[in-house]
Amino acid sequence: MIRHSYLKGLKKMKERQNVLVIGANGTTGRMVVDLLAKKSSYYAMGMVRNEEQKATIEQLGGLPVLGNLEEDFSSAYKDVDVVIFAAGSGGNTGPDKTKSVDKEGAIKAIDYAKAHGVKKFIMLSALGAEDPSQLDLDESMEVYYDAKHAADVHLEKSGLTYTIIRPGALTDEDAKGTIRAEEILENRDGDITRADVAAVLVQAVNMDGLNNKAIEILNDETDIITALNRA
Ligand SMILES: NC(=O)c1ccc[n+]([C@@H]2O[C@H](COP(=O)([O-])OP(=O)(O)OC[C@H]3O[C@@H](n4cnc5c(N)ncnc54)[C@H](OP(=O)(O)O)[C@@H]3O)[C@@H](O)[C@H]2O)c1
Repeated sequence: MIRHSYLKGLKKMKERQNVLVIGANGTTGRMVVDLLAKKSSYYAMGMVRNEEQKATIEQLGGLPVLGNLEEDFSSAYKDVDVVIFAAGSGGNTGPDKTKSVDKEGAIKAIDYAKAHGVKKFIMLSALGAEDPSQLDLDESMEVYYDAKHAADVHLEKSGLTYTIIRPGALTDEDAKGTIRAEEILENRDGDITRADVAAVLVQAVNMDGLNNKAIEILNDETDIITALNRA
């Protein structure tokens, strides 16, 4: 009997997926780690770029791993089943960081995933990144969208199973739990909370209907699972 339940426990542990969150110390990244750590089917691994940030990930119930997107961070990929890329250089840095983090860092993250046999890669992209030429962009946003587009195309061509999530402008309001989601949104007016984006990223881990798809999302009136199932 003891042996039976021990083996059952081991099987359960094996069924858990190790999900590496890149950008885990970010506003959205921390929410992703928190949501993953609350689910018994996942182990949350949070990639942070310095020792002091490790405690934040531990407090959320995740396992911190060190890695900087501008360096070799392949050591973060040990035993990783799924990657969620939620990192970004942010609005306070110049085009050099947009290139080295949002473009080259993301491309490296995809290449490491491929080399380490990762089963699924989930990319936090941006609404309109599918075809930035359709957008009315200033110079810095052009560099940003070039980076997001290049990373998305690299992922689509990588041979990895992927889901690309493209939210509109992010807000810090409480989660609404309701969105609209389409491959290309007909109505791109609106915004979306980081909390809802985090919920969508975590939902995508085991939603096979989203495999090899890119979807745009904004807050709206349909509950997240229904909207994603229809997308
Ligand atoms: N803002 C918007 O309206 C909007 C709209 C659509 C999509 N997005 C996308 O959503 C992403 C997440 O947004 P957010 O507001 O949650 O971002 P955030 O709070 O700025 O978090 C970004 C994370 O990336 C990490 N990072 C930056 N450079 C790194 C490096 N070299 N190595 C490792 N990690 C690095 C940061 O680390 P530190 O904590 O160490 O600084 C931070 O934790 C954005 O980056 C953007 O691509 C944003």
